[in-house]
Amino acid sequence: MTGSTRSNIERRILALRKALDHHNYCYYVLDAPEIPDSEYDRLFRELQELEQAHPDLITQDSPTQRVGASPVSEFGEIRHEIPMLSLDNAFSEDEVREFDRRVRERLEHEQAVDYAAEPKMDGLAISLRYENGLLVSAATRGDGTTGEDVTHNVRTVQSVPLRLVGSGYPALLEVRGEVYMSKADFDKLNAAAAKRGDKLFANPRNAAAGSLRQLDPRVTASRRLSFYAYGVGRVEPDTLPSRHSLILRQLREWGCPVSKYVRTVEGVEGCLAYHREMAQRRAELPYEIDGVVYKVDRLDQQRELGFVARAPRWALAHKFPAEEQMTRLRAVEFQVGRTGALTPVARLEPVFVGGVTVSNATLHNMDEVERKDIRVGDTVIVRRAGDVIPEVVGVVIAKRPAGAKRVHLPKTCPECGSEVIRPEGEAVARCTGGLFCSAQRKESLRHFASRRAMDIEGMGEKLVEELVDEKLLASPVDIYTLKSHAAELKQREGWGEKSVAKLLEAIETSKRTTLTRFLIALGIPNVGETTAADLAVHFGNLEALQVAASDYEKQRTALHRLSPGELEKRLAELELRQIPGIGPTVAEQLGAFFHQAGNRTVIDGLRNAGVHWPEMAPSAGRADGSLAGKTLVLTGTLAGMTRDEAKQRIQALGGKVTGSVSRKTDYVIAGSEPGSKLADAQKLGVTVLDEAGFERLLAG
Ligand code: IVH
Repeated sequence: MTGSTRSNIERRILALRKALDHHNYCYYVLDAPEIPDSEYDRLFRELQELEQAHPDLITQDSPTQRVGASPVSEFGEIRHEIPMLSLDNAFSEDEVREFDRRVRERLEHEQAVDYAAEPKMDGLAISLRYENGLLVSAATRGDGTTGEDVTHNVRTVQSVPLRLVGSGYPALLEVRGEVYMSKADFDKLNAAAAKRGDKLFANPRNAAAGSLRQLDPRVTASRRLSFYAYGVGRVEPDTLPSRHSLILRQLREWGCPVSKYVRTVEGVEGCLAYHREMAQRRAELPYEIDGVVYKVDRLDQQRELGFVARAPRWALAHKFPAEEQMTRLRAVEFQVGRTGALTPVARLEPVFVGGVTVSNATLHNMDEVERKDIRVGDTVIVRRAGDVIPEVVGVVIAKRPAGAKRVHLPKTCPECGSEVIRPEGEAVARCTGGLFCSAQRKESLRHFASRRAMDIEGMGEKLVEELVDEKLLASPVDIYTLKSHAAELKQREGWGEKSVAKLLEAIETSKRTTLTRFLIALGIPNVGETTAADLAVHFGNLEALQVAASDYEKQRTALHRLSPGELEKRLAELELRQIPGIGPTVAEQLGAFFHQAGNRTVIDGLRNAGVHWPEMAPSAGRADGSLAGKTLVLTGTLAGMTRDEAKQRIQALGGKVTGSVSRKTDYVIAGSEPGSKLADAQKLGVTVLDEAGFERLLAG
């Protein structure tokens, strides 16, 4: 190789390292990447390839050299020349005021003191030693005087600079800060562990600690840790600024990430306002914080205040209410949800956590209970973060009493006594009681009356629950016979002539509906709004759908001897499966639903009670409908039909309804009190039809 090619390669390698360092800085410190990840990866690979071809040009601070050290059998020790201290804690505003009072008293300072206010990261403390700008070692806090040498692992943390950027840094600089794991990386880590059936980490801090204390740096590298600087240790020569906040700013300029929430505030009121603000933000932050830290900003004042025992007099951690607490599990009960799913619920010794008293927490499902090995009598860790429902994150095995009892899935439903089944390979156990089960009945009635289904105003969760308990409602059909119970309704607490009339009126109004809404209301598993609309348009009327569904069900059972592949081939030819978007699962659900006699009885009952919708010609092969390929826009109110009906009739004829007028719109249908769409149509020269014109269009 000629000297010039080699120096060209060397130059390219240096340029690539410089570029990668710069982009790392933009990404992790400035939080403002200049290039997409893919471009970063490309530069990285180019550097890797050049270094592979020229191993003698590899240096320790190359961005390719983060991982690569071989596993160690144990961690070495590193002595902290300047001890790593801890912080005094405060849990109330009064304690913070007390702290501030002591600070001002010692400083003989009447006015408000300047404080640096910072988030208190929930990870673990680390001390990074830079010599002439190069990262030479990293140590955990340990006992404050001696920590573990985790250099190889810390090198894998992308946001820790291997080399400081810029210039003017002291020959020796110890940067102190927190290594943590973001909530997103924690969730990913646990999701992957759950998939493998491995033990889960209880929280991001444990995950960060566990990841940093790995003997094999490759494991740490796979865990995605992050770093924020919050101070310095030994500095020589000490040319740093004379305020803590300015030191952090300087560290940032040298490439160390510093939280963007670091702020200087005035006096104790400034501190408390900051605490309140961060408490508000806590849930939305991408990482966990367990409080905020106040530090007297001026270093001369810090020196004057000094230390007591292991904590400085110039700093204070103002904690948030803990999001996790230990308590005893008294019992596990099972709740039946809308689909019959049984959810284990923990009944707990009441405990104050996340700012409220918690006595119940979800256990999600039996898989979770088994994986976490939760037993009645155990001491468990309860977590309540923000407004999220409380959950049991784990068991303190060391505190398990001798008599702790395993949790068993009940064989029968606690609500209705029907058999409970848990299909092979599924996490969820279900009650087989269907609408016989009052828990499921309540949920299906609530769904039936809901806005997107039959839209019965005033018939919410609470009323449904009460009417079921009072035995006034059992099936959706009963809703339409409620008027014969008007007298009983009027006697209900808080009810009177008017409220009953209003409810009965809403029920009456709901009778006139559309096939789509009716299908939604039936609550057929997997049949939501889109599928219901597809079915309504395709079949035009309920009978045709019922025929196709029962045909599907019959064929499926008749052909059960065929091989799965052959069976699927035959079923895919049936009408139900010809509808775009209807796959085997939905077809099967429809078949099963319409096959059940109970469901047919409910449907007949509803129709006999007067529930109706406009019948439409089936659009099987919409393409040949009279409105095929046409786009319509509706505006204003039609006297003869609702918006939904109009939409369905258009769709049944193969037309499309859109929300705004464009040159591509074929017709705008204007009812009374039309909106701005009418003007749009006139501007664009789109044909406008009134209701009579629309009726003629529908009639073909
Ligand atoms: S300052 C002399 N600032 O909290 C002051 N610590 O309870 C030493 N921590 O071990 C620490 N965020 O791991 C400081 N902004 C912050 C912090 C912070 C989190 C941790 C740190 C320390 C512990 C003390």
